[in-house]
Amino acid sequence: MRLIIEENDAKAGLWTARYIVARIKEKAARTDRPFVLGLPTGSTPVETYKELVRLYEAGEVSFRNVVTFNMDEYVGIPEDHPESYHTFMRRHFFDHVDVPAANIHILDGNAPDLQKECERKIVAAGGIDLFLGGIGEDGHIAFNEPYSSLVSRTRVMTLTPETVAVNSRFFDNDVNKVPKQAMSVGVATIMDSHEVIIQAFGHKKARALKHGVEGCYSHEWTISALQVHPAGIIVADEAAVGELKVSTYRYFRELEKSERL
Ligand code: GLP
Repeated sequence: MRLIIEENDAKAGLWTARYIVARIKEKAARTDRPFVLGLPTGSTPVETYKELVRLYEAGEVSFRNVVTFNMDEYVGIPEDHPESYHTFMRRHFFDHVDVPAANIHILDGNAPDLQKECERKIVAAGGIDLFLGGIGEDGHIAFNEPYSSLVSRTRVMTLTPETVAVNSRFFDNDVNKVPKQAMSVGVATIMDSHEVIIQAFGHKKARALKHGVEGCYSHEWTISALQVHPAGIIVADEAAVGELKVSTYRYFRELEKSERL
């Protein structure tokens, strides 16, 4: 596992966006096959999307040969609901870049029978090259809440009361307005990707990050599944690494310095 520590979320967003662009270009240089990108929602990836849009506008990258799969979507709210993940993705990314509409895959939270379809399409696309994700305060990745199977596939998940409470900030701070279920790719769907980048910003994510990096491989903290991925990267800000042991912090700092030599 690599752990990239940046000063703040803006710098971490720049690092991540540039890494993704480098990967897209690297694949384009060796094959005509599309780059398959797994994408998240939430406040965490916003800076990354901003930088990806900026790089696109500056002519540094095109997404014409990129196929995308989103991690998750709430069940039972209309696609055009202001807080649906369909709307989020249009607002922050798809409306501003040249990803062809036919290449965009977002789970349909109103048609649960599409869950198997998602896995089939990912397989048909040749697997996911890079999955970008965030983590919940309880360590969930996508909507794989604590005690989700670490070999799970795309399915409907019931959100924990904690996640409903955390996400109520997008629904007038009213837990009753937050959908109680979501469709989500499974932990194994994410882990099957050739590369996984998980971003964690702010002190509220520090406990989850500690469990993900220093804790046991356990379904209690689904982020810990990254420990068995051959090419997992965590991109964090200083606040999110605040609960790590000093020795762990120093180890990863030193490792990245020597990587850059
Ligand atoms: C939701 C999403 C996750 C996301 C998490 C963190 O629960 N399903 O994919 O990583 O929230 O959200 P935020 O980035 O807003 O802290």
